[in-house]
Amino acid sequence: MGIFKSARKSVENEAPKGRVLAFLNQKGGVGKTTMAFNTAHALSEKGYKVLCLDLDPQANLSLLCGLDTDEEGYQSIHQLLINSVRELKALHVPALVQNCIHHGNKVDVIGSCQALSGFDLSVAGINTPRQLILKKFIAINSLADTYDYIIIDGPPTLGLLVVNIMCAADGLLVPFRPDEFSRKGLGHFYNVLEDIDDMGIIKAPQVIAHIPNLVDLRRKIESDDLARIKEEIEIEFGPGRVTEPFLNRAPLVRSSAQRKSVYEFNSKEFHSLKEQFNDVANRITDWHRSEVQ
Ligand SMILES: Nc1ncnc2c1ncn2[C@@H]1O[C@H](COP(=O)(O)OP(=O)(O)O)[C@@H](O)[C@H]1O
Ligand SMILES: [Mg+2]
Repeated sequence: MGIFKSARKSVENEAPKGRVLAFLNQKGGVGKTTMAFNTAHALSEKGYKVLCLDLDPQANLSLLCGLDTDEEGYQSIHQLLINSVRELKALHVPALVQNCIHHGNKVDVIGSCQALSGFDLSVAGINTPRQLILKKFIAINSLADTYDYIIIDGPPTLGLLVVNIMCAADGLLVPFRPDEFSRKGLGHFYNVLEDIDDMGIIKAPQVIAHIPNLVDLRRKIESDDLARIKEEIEIEFGPGRVTEPFLNRAPLVRSSAQRKSVYEFNSKEFHSLKEQFNDVANRITDWHRSEVQ
């Protein structure tokens, strides 16, 4: 056997060390972006190398990370994804991945833009598997070798973009509001996840944690709905898969308005928020550890 063949084999056998995580829920306003941003910073505080990947055309995570999406020459994940599909040559525009990765103080980021809302249409006619475009993009650019964690912020839809995110992710985090609509919504969400599993092409990502957000425990109906949703989730996924609820917290709104994570504030009112995001980060690292064993 030639030397090259065995050398290549050893590279193929080496699984990437990093993990791709996505904050998903097809409902808007449940805290996906806020959680993705602060969890990314929690992981960075722990010493991990983190890339934020904004896959919501509304580009809220890009803005939180300090990107100016209107700047001339700004290039987003949309163009990189289109460029990664050979069949879409007519739509290719020169763009280097390295130039699209913005290096922040704490975390790196690849931004989004409004054009991403046309992703489903742009790739509608191609013959190569449309649901695996993001997964291939991450693999081709060895992003999971460069970063310990890639944190994806998803759009409030359940279309092809979200299917791409589900196929590319190793683990999911699902923020939700504890009400009856969310309960139904979560049902649809898991159907899509099951469909992906049923395709048999890839292993569907694991749900690492459900995160109740914007909870008002003083309202009886909310705490009842939360208890009910929690019970259903635990029947489906096993115990301990729901974090402590995040309450409606003004400091979180304030920090986001300043485009800062809660870790950049030292006042006492941020302590419990930091602890809560540390808990989300610990769940991720514990899951990662258990997964590689
Ligand atoms: N726990 C919270 N307390 C107070 N405001 C919150 C909380 N979580 C999110 N928000 C606010 O709610 C709005 C929606 O959150 P966002 O993260 O953008 O949700 P999504 O990405 O799911 O649409 C934002 O204005 C955000 O600042
Ligand atoms: Mg969002």
